[in-house]
Amino acid sequence: MTDSGQTPLRVALLGGGVVGGAVARMLATQADDLAARIGRPLQLVGVAVRRAGKDRSETGIDPELFTTDAEALLDRADIVVELIGGIDRARELILAAMERGASVVTANKALLAEDGPTLYAAAAEHGVDLYYEAAVAGAIPILRPIRDSLAGDSIQRVIGIVNGTTNFVLDAMDTSGAGLPETVEQAQSLGYAEADPTADVEGFDAAAKAAILSSLAFHTRVASSQVHREGITSISSRDVQAAREMDATVKLLAICERVETPAGVGVSARVHPAMIPLTHPLASVRGAYNAVFVEAEAAGQLMFYGQGAGGDPTASAVLGDIVAVARTRVGGGHGPGEIAYADLPVLPMGEAITRYHVSLDVADRPGVLAAVAQVFSDQGVSIETVRQEVGGDGGGPRAELIIVTHAARDAALTATVTALAGLDQVNEVTSVMRVEGS
Ligand code: NDP
Ligand code: HSE
Repeated sequence: MTDSGQTPLRVALLGGGVVGGAVARMLATQADDLAARIGRPLQLVGVAVRRAGKDRSETGIDPELFTTDAEALLDRADIVVELIGGIDRARELILAAMERGASVVTANKALLAEDGPTLYAAAAEHGVDLYYEAAVAGAIPILRPIRDSLAGDSIQRVIGIVNGTTNFVLDAMDTSGAGLPETVEQAQSLGYAEADPTADVEGFDAAAKAAILSSLAFHTRVASSQVHREGITSISSRDVQAAREMDATVKLLAICERVETPAGVGVSARVHPAMIPLTHPLASVRGAYNAVFVEAEAAGQLMFYGQGAGGDPTASAVLGDIVAVARTRVGGGHGPGEIAYADLPVLPMGEAITRYHVSLDVADRPGVLAAVAQVFSDQGVSIETVRQEVGGDGGGPRAELIIVTHAARDAALTATVTALAGLDQVNEVTSVMRVEGS
């Protein structure tokens, strides 16, 4: 049903923190422009928060708007914007909002990646919209391009730097040569990393975003639990130096791919650190910035770059969604629901196709290189380059072998590393890292 009146569309904010506060401010400062773009004014009817007594004067938001009674707020809203984060309470409030006929905008990647289908089903049941552009890569418009602009194409691969904290840490390690712990502390003191940095450094945040990207890119339900996840906690300054020696840099990548296997096509979704060559566009993403590189059959390569976090940048994406759902309220119709028709199998990590960079501390004597090469051959893994550095002499002559493979199944590559570690001639497997983007 269309509505051309000037009655304001009522917006309820659940959460008045970093993002919610910025959204409330932009709703006020951009009010006239937003009304003109939508065709109806927006009215902020309230901001639900958890702590009643907190001083919020610095937010500039009318104190009368704050409430701890989120449910009561839902009764007065056409559009509910969930910015409290977390799983259970956020889901409860979103479902209650939809039940009351409100469209929902959220930035909650964790909830979408864990239980997106439930939210989509409720939106369909109640005839309302669900938008979540801010859930992946903050300000960067990436979900709508994947879902809408590329809807006529076939996406083959999405590779993203989707966590600003870990990109800041890896970039700082690369620039300064410092180790991981002190660089994480630096990220905390600058406000990039949380006091508990687990979600970022262990890759949980990036895995949730990879699940969302994969679901949209491949029209297949992918939950965060199906995303292979390795964080950056095992990355040492030596790994970063090894990448430099290869004219590469280390990035935490979220990789979502359509993969051909003997059993058919599947989706591979994974988050792990990897070396990428300095010539790859993602290598130039510095500091806490995010970028998403998309490869589509007809469009070719596309790169989306910008700020992946922060109040104002994230609020920009949230406001874009508010305008989108407001427009469908005014003009009638609905935004897209869940499109999961392809229903491709989500493949285990072993089926991913990747390349390895392996450094070995070996005995420097005849036959060692042949024995090492035999291990790769046994697993059907082809070696692309081998470099040998003469090492120390403690306990006999030693050398460092640095081997880069051609692309192979990850299962074959991990089996190779396991077999190398058990080889008499190998003192230690000193570093293993995947190589992507070339
Ligand atoms: P904050 O912690 O800054 O703010 C959370 C807000 O929600 C606070 O106002 C808090 O109240 C309120 N809140 C928490 N629990 C409840 C509850 N049970 N009932 C009512 N209110 C509650 O979070 P952010 O603004 O940083 O993040 C919000 C969402 O946006 C999250 O899903 C996050 O993942 C996502 N996001 C954040 C980005 C960022 O850069 N910060 C970037 C992209 C996405 P009180 O003020 O009383 O504590
Ligand atoms: N913690 C995230 C990051 C921001 O460092 O990118 C919110 O997704």
